[in-house]
Amino acid sequence: MNTFFITTPIYYVNARPHLGHAYTTVVADAMARYHKLAGQDTLFLTGTDEHGDKIVQAAEKEGKSPKEFVDGISARFQALWPRLDVANDRFVRTTDPTHVASVQSFLQKVYDAGDIYFGEFGGHYCYGCERFYTEKELENGLCPQHLSKPEFISEKNYFFRMSKYLPWLKEHIEQNPTFIRPERYRTEVLSMLESGALEDLCISRPKSRLTWGIELPFDKDYVCYVWFDALINYISALGWPDGADFERYWPGEHLVAKDILKPHAVFWPTMLKSAGLPQYRHLNVHGYWLVRDTKMSKSLGNVVEPEEMAQRFGADAFRYFLLREMHFGSDASFSDEALVGRINADLANDLGNLFSRVLSMTAKYFGSRVPAPKQFDEADKAIEDLCATAMRNFSQLFGNVQFAQGLESLWELVRALNKYVDSQAPWALHKQGNMERLATVMYVLLAAMRKTALCLWPVMPVACGKMLEQLGQPVQETLPPVPVLEEEMGSLDGLVPGTGVAEASNLFPRIEVKKDPAVAEKAKAAKAQAKAEKNAARQQKGDGGKPVEPCASGDDAAVSGRPNIDFDHFKALDMRVGTVLVAEKHPNADRILRLEIDFGEGQPRQILSGLAEHYAPEAMVGKRVCAVLNLEPRKIRGLMSHGMVLTAGDGNSLTLLALDGNMPDGSEIA
Ligand code: MSP
Repeated sequence: MNTFFITTPIYYVNARPHLGHAYTTVVADAMARYHKLAGQDTLFLTGTDEHGDKIVQAAEKEGKSPKEFVDGISARFQALWPRLDVANDRFVRTTDPTHVASVQSFLQKVYDAGDIYFGEFGGHYCYGCERFYTEKELENGLCPQHLSKPEFISEKNYFFRMSKYLPWLKEHIEQNPTFIRPERYRTEVLSMLESGALEDLCISRPKSRLTWGIELPFDKDYVCYVWFDALINYISALGWPDGADFERYWPGEHLVAKDILKPHAVFWPTMLKSAGLPQYRHLNVHGYWLVRDTKMSKSLGNVVEPEEMAQRFGADAFRYFLLREMHFGSDASFSDEALVGRINADLANDLGNLFSRVLSMTAKYFGSRVPAPKQFDEADKAIEDLCATAMRNFSQLFGNVQFAQGLESLWELVRALNKYVDSQAPWALHKQGNMERLATVMYVLLAAMRKTALCLWPVMPVACGKMLEQLGQPVQETLPPVPVLEEEMGSLDGLVPGTGVAEASNLFPRIEVKKDPAVAEKAKAAKAQAKAEKNAARQQKGDGGKPVEPCASGDDAAVSGRPNIDFDHFKALDMRVGTVLVAEKHPNADRILRLEIDFGEGQPRQILSGLAEHYAPEAMVGKRVCAVLNLEPRKIRGLMSHGMVLTAGDGNSLTLLALDGNMPDGSEIA
């Protein structure tokens, strides 16, 4: 049977849900909806991880019993998801009696297979991470995550013979290139396996130290290690060992961030192998959301609350931003400005504007009824082709967890539709009384808008419903399981002439950002000063000694403050698009990042760029950049730079020049 089962990590209940949790869960929701749209029998699972020392400590702090405490926070997670239009089918809690029974069956099975043994173990235990560290893993004797001193604990415990399955795991990953994706995480796991540092896994905690956990079925003095317990949620929620849903939906695929790669890529597959169960299909690993390029943390006071975002900007727009802004696998940076920028550019200007202008013209010229098209001309056929291609690309990329790229290919269609309005000029056709041509143009637009709206259901479910309603589509009948995406990718059909459509549309109003006057004033002053300094320097130096012809129009020069250059000078610039492969701080210059960028030249090019105060190195990896390549190479503090990355700045802040489309590395900028 054609099924699709997707899971998120089950979140710890020692903290409130934040942007990171929201991202993973929104992505899982979008994946589930996409697969439903593709006609698959889909199940989407999320939940909460409620055992372990951390929880006991957090409960104690609030003067609550662990159960009271976990009930409260788990409820917060459950309440959040509908506010982000997340429609999970199941919610698993590790304190559910069915989960507990499932974990005990699993433990017994692995024990009976001879893969669990009792042994003595001493290690440095970090309560924050809930794990033991070896001497080597500590940094100056401290836990590398929490920078706190772990406690040395020596005790008898149960161990899972993980090492027995590591050679098999390596082979499995090598033979299944998309078992762990994107590739960079697959490589990371393979080198983890090759390093030889992985050993057997300690899977118990003595009750003398911790009681808040699942009792081992073969020793009542011990509880199960929280990770061993938690991973089993993915099958306990399907009723394993006896539930019919396990038969129906397993194997599924998982979605996690890079922080929990090891338990999912090493512990879980070996656990499944030992229990004789089939492996998951894919482990989809994403990067981290930073906030203004800084790690999000309670102590820095920069934690982004998803609920607040949905209230301020709307759940649809927030979801769109999350999926569009993060390139799956790489880190991304969150800021209100980036969010508002995307909403205004992509949703208000491109998509919202398309709906608004086309529907108001349909009202004006055809009394808000879909007109019957006549023969398609070249321009109409080009839109029909583009629509099919954009949908196919969107679908393929989305299915491949490349959400940002999938949306970008759909936006190529949205932007082309806006251009088609401009080039076909329905108002002129109306003026000329050319009603046949006008009917065809309006039909093409409305039909392509319907297809676009359908594709967007996984990303913006509520807005998609509104768009379809505005196009006169009975939403209950239109949305899954009825339209199977594949069947919609052909010709521009699907709209019945005569259907009534909305008279107007205001889907995504532009967001006006009120600037803090003090900040704006400072920025203005800094800009003026920078400009004055530049002009003075230019006058003094005659612009680097190279004579530049004064411009013909004095006005043009006054706007930019710089003289015109002739076309040949401009043509001499070799500007290209590239992807950042490596980014790190310059060892001798605080403000400079050392980048290795792929411009399709066969090997990456090193460019040094003054971006360090604006972008964290990890946020740069995977970014598409525009750069000038034929600048004279320069040595900056001991390192060579072979080009310059283009940025836009106002004296205070700096941003990379973004591409408005998906062009291959090495594409020329002109
Ligand atoms: N309880 C374990 C998971 C057990 S799964 C069997 C756990 N919980 S957690 O609450 O810490 O959640 C970690 C997950 O939250 C990450 O893998 C990711 O899905 C999400 N995120 C938390 N912070 C994040 C960011 N800053 N950015 C993106 N996602 C991150 O680990």
